[in-house]
Amino acid sequence: MKVDTLYQTIALDLKKLIESRTYRPGEKLPSVRKLSNQWNVSIATIQSAYLELQSQGLIYSQPRAGFFVESAFSHLLPEPLLSSPANTFNDPGEGHLSTSLVDSLNFGPDLIPFGIATLDPNLFPISDLHRSLTRVSRRAGSEALVYDFVPGSIKLRQQLSKLCVRSGLCMPPEEFVLTNGAIEAFHVCLRAVAKTGDLIAVESPTYYGFLRAIQNMQMRPLEIPTHPREGIDLGCLNTLLKKHKVSSIMTVSNYSNPLGCTIPIDRKKDLVCMAKKFNVPIIENDIFGDLPHFGDRPSVCKAYDQDGMVLLCSSFSKTLSPGYRVGWTAPGKYKSRVEWLIHESTFASSTLMRLSIAEYLASSNYQKHLLNLRRHCASQVQQMSMIVSNHFPKGTRLTRPEGGFILWVEFPEKLNSFELHRLALAHKISITPGPVFSSQQQYQNCIRLSCGYPITSYLEQAIAKLGKLATQLISISTK
Ligand SMILES: Cc1ncc(COP(=O)(O)O)c(C=O)c1O
Repeated sequence: MKVDTLYQTIALDLKKLIESRTYRPGEKLPSVRKLSNQWNVSIATIQSAYLELQSQGLIYSQPRAGFFVESAFSHLLPEPLLSSPANTFNDPGEGHLSTSLVDSLNFGPDLIPFGIATLDPNLFPISDLHRSLTRVSRRAGSEALVYDFVPGSIKLRQQLSKLCVRSGLCMPPEEFVLTNGAIEAFHVCLRAVAKTGDLIAVESPTYYGFLRAIQNMQMRPLEIPTHPREGIDLGCLNTLLKKHKVSSIMTVSNYSNPLGCTIPIDRKKDLVCMAKKFNVPIIENDIFGDLPHFGDRPSVCKAYDQDGMVLLCSSFSKTLSPGYRVGWTAPGKYKSRVEWLIHESTFASSTLMRLSIAEYLASSNYQKHLLNLRRHCASQVQQMSMIVSNHFPKGTRLTRPEGGFILWVEFPEKLNSFELHRLALAHKISITPGPVFSSQQQYQNCIRLSCGYPITSYLEQAIAKLGKLATQLISISTK
């Protein structure tokens, strides 16, 4: 920016504060009057500075509310539209997740990891975790060598009880049941509330682990259109709950997989009311909730549940270590059934890993680590979005998640994402094609991109390569 007047100097100073994230995306800037007093310049000068920043797309004004920092993604590709898998309304559960499609995914360690939704393990607090493990194994002695029976280590459940205050919950340790990762948590919850042949409402697109679980238990998925920012379409859900007998609703309420959307608070409340009205339990997965890109972590649906209808599931796989396999559920009024199911299937779990996570959480380093991890996730998602915007073909749409580390890319309709997946693998790049997120293999022209690793120039080149391959595929299919 060329600077030769006072308002331009002020605009430049404010720009620096925005770029350094002193003022974060979505945050309100000081009022014109306040800043004019504080910086001892005229109101007109501040107004001109704000207008200058507005013209650069860095801030926006809201009538009667003031000026706000633009979303970090405002200059990027347009967002995907509300997904509307029209055919699913008529034929719930008729589709099948193609297990051969899922099995064809390749997340091998020699591949560039845009396919798998995990973080670079170097972003985890490796030495702190090792220290906790060593301390616990020394101190616990034989206690660490025995079975950890359901509901699992009281020490860890006490820590979870404290941690969940930040999600809007007030739950004593007795409400928690420990599991081997979030996958075991939602498997047992599903078995606790539904049986063979039952209909399960899922977001669309949804995490293929849910579709696999539903299918393996011979239940039927009912895909509900999902907004890329605000999550599951409640109007549509309401209509379908009137029409069909649904046994459960499965949702990733915060920074979902794969859309990255977060259900706003009012809608979370409405969803819980709806579940109560139709007497349908919600299996809520909050595995990404601790990873907002700015501000506090969002609340969970369970925070608005007075009746034990929400079975909340999560784990430390996205924040500390997927390999520890430490997860949990707070299954509300289904707790004794969940405990019985775990006792019947897993019987008991690794004591040492649970004690070790409890020790780490007690050290109060977790919140510091989360701050650091959130900064990495935000910056990786932003960088990846920028590179995708620069290299992907015209007509591509891209989500703008406010947390987590997953992007959903919608190409022009001509693109076949499995073909792109195949070509990308030949260049040692892994991606996840859209159809695995639907029981009816929708989203043929979409892919999920994970931003779990710091963006090096090697990764940047790989994204540019993907863009080239996508452009080639589209031009071949339009010939
Ligand atoms: C929504 C969701 N739930 C569960 C998991 C797996 O969780 P865990 O490793 O704790 O079993 C994933 C992994 O990507 C996920 O995205």
